[in-house]
Amino acid sequence: MTLFESVFAGNDAVYGLTENAIDQAIETHGADKAVSFPNTAYSLPCYYAVTGTKVGTLAELKEALAVVKTLMTREKRTHDAFMSGVATALCAEFIEVLKYIDGATPYEEPCYGHLADAVIRELGVPLVTGDIPGVAVILGKAASAEEAAALVKSYQAQGILVTLVGDIIDQLAEINYKTGANVRVIPLGKDVTSVIHVVSVALRAALIFGNVKPGDAATLMEYTMKRVPAFVNAFAPLNDVIVACGAGAIALGFPVITNQADVPRVPKSLICQTDVSKWNATSLEARDIKIKITNIDIPVAFASAFEGEIIRRKDMQVEFDGSRVDCAELVQTCDASEVEDHKITVIGPEADEMELGSKNSIAYVVKVAGKNMQADFEPVIERKFHNYINCIEGVYHTGQRDMQRIRISIDAFNAGFRIKHLGEVLYAQVKNEFDAVVDKCEVVIYTDPAECTRVRHEVAIPTFEKRDERLDNLTDESVDVYYSCILCQAFSPSHVCVVTPERLGLCGAVSWLDAKATNELDPAGPCQVITKERPIDENLGAYEDVDEAVQKFSQGALEHVTLYSIMQDPMTSCGCFECICGIEPFSNGVVIANREYAGMTPLGMTFPEMASMTGGGVQTPGFMGHGKHFISSKKFMKAEGGIERIVWMPKELKEFVAERLNATAKELYGIDNFTDMIGDETVAEDPETLVAFLTEKGHPALSMDPMM
Ligand code: SF4
Ligand code: NI
Ligand code: NI
Repeated sequence: MTLFESVFAGNDAVYGLTENAIDQAIETHGADKAVSFPNTAYSLPCYYAVTGTKVGTLAELKEALAVVKTLMTREKRTHDAFMSGVATALCAEFIEVLKYIDGATPYEEPCYGHLADAVIRELGVPLVTGDIPGVAVILGKAASAEEAAALVKSYQAQGILVTLVGDIIDQLAEINYKTGANVRVIPLGKDVTSVIHVVSVALRAALIFGNVKPGDAATLMEYTMKRVPAFVNAFAPLNDVIVACGAGAIALGFPVITNQADVPRVPKSLICQTDVSKWNATSLEARDIKIKITNIDIPVAFASAFEGEIIRRKDMQVEFDGSRVDCAELVQTCDASEVEDHKITVIGPEADEMELGSKNSIAYVVKVAGKNMQADFEPVIERKFHNYINCIEGVYHTGQRDMQRIRISIDAFNAGFRIKHLGEVLYAQVKNEFDAVVDKCEVVIYTDPAECTRVRHEVAIPTFEKRDERLDNLTDESVDVYYSCILCQAFSPSHVCVVTPERLGLCGAVSWLDAKATNELDPAGPCQVITKERPIDENLGAYEDVDEAVQKFSQGALEHVTLYSIMQDPMTSCGCFECICGIEPFSNGVVIANREYAGMTPLGMTFPEMASMTGGGVQTPGFMGHGKHFISSKKFMKAEGGIERIVWMPKELKEFVAERLNATAKELYGIDNFTDMIGDETVAEDPETLVAFLTEKGHPALSMDPMM
């Protein structure tokens, strides 16, 4: 059979199955039965992205199938094969959505099935920073479980996100290979149709970040080809259905690598590599993915894929716990003469001398020296320690400053990992990432309890207090410049964040100090200085300088951006925002929802639905993405009256921001315990109940001017 015949036959087979499945579902449930994937604003995201139509019922699904049929032309041309590939993918989506009828949960551990919009938004920052350099889709059954594990591990070690479809899932389970989103290995499902759940991620990325209009299939495919670094690894034997799915992948720009020897080759798209141990290299080359190599001299792996790994109590060799004993982590700027480069010292017992499962003290001081080093960069470097230490395979880190907690697993210890290796990792990463400001770096690790107490109380805490004072005094008025951030342009081509001391980037990961350091480290990089010499309206936060900067950095897509208004020329959103706020007309206020919140808001929208109102680098008055810490800022929608407008937040978010938000409310308006006046999901999920609650509490928003 030729490739065309294979694709067409596979497409026809899947189409037939889909038609039967829909007819049967209509017979069972009736044509009016609602269908949709859960936790998404896009119903059937692939079909919606390709056609612009949102399917809501089985009857509409049947109509959609007729549209799919029109893609299935049978001329032996590349275009026909690609479209049949897309049609196959859409059929797969229809088959999969039927599994979710009536709120069913068709997938169970370890499989994920459909992935929520929130998961895609979370992937935004790691994808743009290159922390996740690519996405592998592995399909089928390897020759052995060991071969499967070796392939997956090779991608993990590079930080690549791995998704699995088919028998390989059972093969990994057999040998207890750890999978899960936290280690970037996501088993989707065992049926081949479950591959649609990763396609759905790619297409939603185009809608969420790329502002691609649903139905504009050509732009959609251009987006995935240019900006979504995915590829497929398919184990032999391939059947027609897999080949048809593969044609769909290639249509989106994702190369397919297989070990099926007799497959017809398509240059750069369908590649035969019979040696599976070479798939990693072949795939990266085909998709043009470059991996940053970090060679650190430690006996376990070091990769971002291990960042989310959890070490349970029973699996740990030793633990350090800043909430129980004195601990600290600190960067200290020193004179060059006081620092011996790459010197690592452990003062106190090594891990061998600690009891199995014991809780211990640890304090590490990273001494740095450099001509361009500034005290302001200390917390920026220090905050990266969490990420550095977490990326060590078998080591877990949470918290910061003097409240960090570290666990070293028994496996890592048995592989030879010791406390001194923490020093190696800190040294290597600080030198790697901060080479523009750090010329010399030395690490001193204290495990002697008395020394830890001394370092914590006499060195670290006084330093933290000094820094907090500096941060408190750091206001938008007190600095001479702001910074732009355009990191997210990799996915949202016209998005620009303007980062100020009182307004951090909407991803929550870039503060003014971070932006300043990024600019210093890479003067031609994503963060550029924005002057603020020509104010237009200080209350709105409008400046000629800011307008010029966003015009330039958005390549003309944006003309005016204000810093403090949600109604007039608000800042754009890319898609990876931590929170979204939107106006609530009945109370004159705003509702805020965070990415983690899965429930309903009084706007009648869930987080994904609110989030879909904005994004892709466009301005949407009335809706704005922002970071969690912005909520307690004195500049939070200051032009519309500020934080007094906040009428509702999920309970968890409210608790997270309570202390700072209450302090701001007290300072600005003299209100005590402001958060008690703000509704949450335990109080109201609809506007009427919310307004009754706000009235009872005397919430200030009720008596403010209408926003619209
Ligand atoms: Fe993206 Fe803005 Fe965060 Fe920069 S600050 S990474 S542009 S969201
Ligand atoms: Ni103490
Ligand atoms: Ni972003």
